Amino acid sequence: MGTGVTIEVSGLSKWFGRANVWSDVTFTMPPGEVSVLLGPSGTGKSVFLKCLIGLLKPETGSIFIHDTDLVSARAEQLYDIRKLFGVLFQDGALFGSMNLFDNIAFPLREHTRKGEREIRDIVMEKVDMVGLTGDEDKLPGEISGGMRKRAGLARALVLEPEIVLFDEPDSGLDPVRTAYLNQLIIDLNAKTDATFLIVTHDINTAQTVPDNIGIMYHKHLAMFGPRELLLTSEDPVVAQFLNGRREGPIGMSEEKDADEQAAENGRTRFTVPSMKPQLRASGGLERKAVARRMQRVMNMVHELPPRARHAVVDSLDEGDRVRYRDVIGDARLA
Ligand SMILES: Nc1ncnc2c1ncn2[C@@H]1O[C@H](COP(=O)(O)OP(=O)(O)O)[C@@H](O)[C@H]1O
Ligand SMILES: [Mg+2]
Repeated sequence: MGTGVTIEVSGLSKWFGRANVWSDVTFTMPPGEVSVLLGPSGTGKSVFLKCLIGLLKPETGSIFIHDTDLVSARAEQLYDIRKLFGVLFQDGALFGSMNLFDNIAFPLREHTRKGEREIRDIVMEKVDMVGLTGDEDKLPGEISGGMRKRAGLARALVLEPEIVLFDEPDSGLDPVRTAYLNQLIIDLNAKTDATFLIVTHDINTAQTVPDNIGIMYHKHLAMFGPRELLLTSEDPVVAQFLNGRREGPIGMSEEKDADEQAAENGRTRFTVPSMKPQLRASGGLERKAVARRMQRVMNMVHELPPRARHAVVDSLDEGDRVRYRDVIGDARLA
């Protein structure tokens, strides 16, 4: 499988007629890392994913992948770039009349000249990766929602993508299935080293899966950064989102009015709970992105607020403590 790629988004804005979905979205998804995108419904998270794969065209800005700007790319270039993406849509988007094998084989038959023997090998490998061995002959209607998502994931992986996008993979799943899916996502990231972007509403997923978190709010990307920064943030919007609290600037209809907000201000101040540990790849698997990310975060650790710095240091294992002792030993980190 390919190695993950960097995706550099800058100054991106999207309009539908006179309606602005979001503007000035600027951030970089580091290679092979897992990022989560959160935000209230209707803030344009799905629109953003569609812009990434070239289904929608942003009005301004650029999206650079491998020195190609997707926004200004010509049709042929876009066709090549699109092959780098695997996408898991909300419902798995399987063809109801095809069994799982044919569903998963579909992109290979459609986009490659591979023979049936090779297609079988690839499909069965992906079927095994997502834990569906023995279910290949079933129809989507005969299996659970969780299995449909895994089948959709197998199909998203058959063309060996360097970038995998997930639009609410955990919607409609119970907490146990979500926990299995999240572990599967982390394990697949270890096996592929592809760059992952997950849109989710699930707080536990946001707290335990990603290396980086972004929040769409108020027609902007309100914040994007390492998990330690967002999960320890006292910013009212960020803290409300990542802790699933009713109190905060986000109300039922996206934003609370001044009276509601004033009524809350008298209440006790919220302390951000300590960070949950991040999911690790299952035994025997290693995420290459982890070491790369550690290096990256250590290079920026002095720019982080104190709570985030401490969270970074607390999450280091013994080897990293030795490797980065000069950085940690710095008085500013004590
Ligand atoms: N093809 C489209 N044409 C016009 N408006 C659209 C289209 N797709 C999405 N929108 C609008 O863009 C906004 C963001 O939608 P969406 O990306 O689906 O939000 P989210 O995924 O964050 O819930 C919504 O107001 C939606 O109605
Ligand atoms: Mg959506």
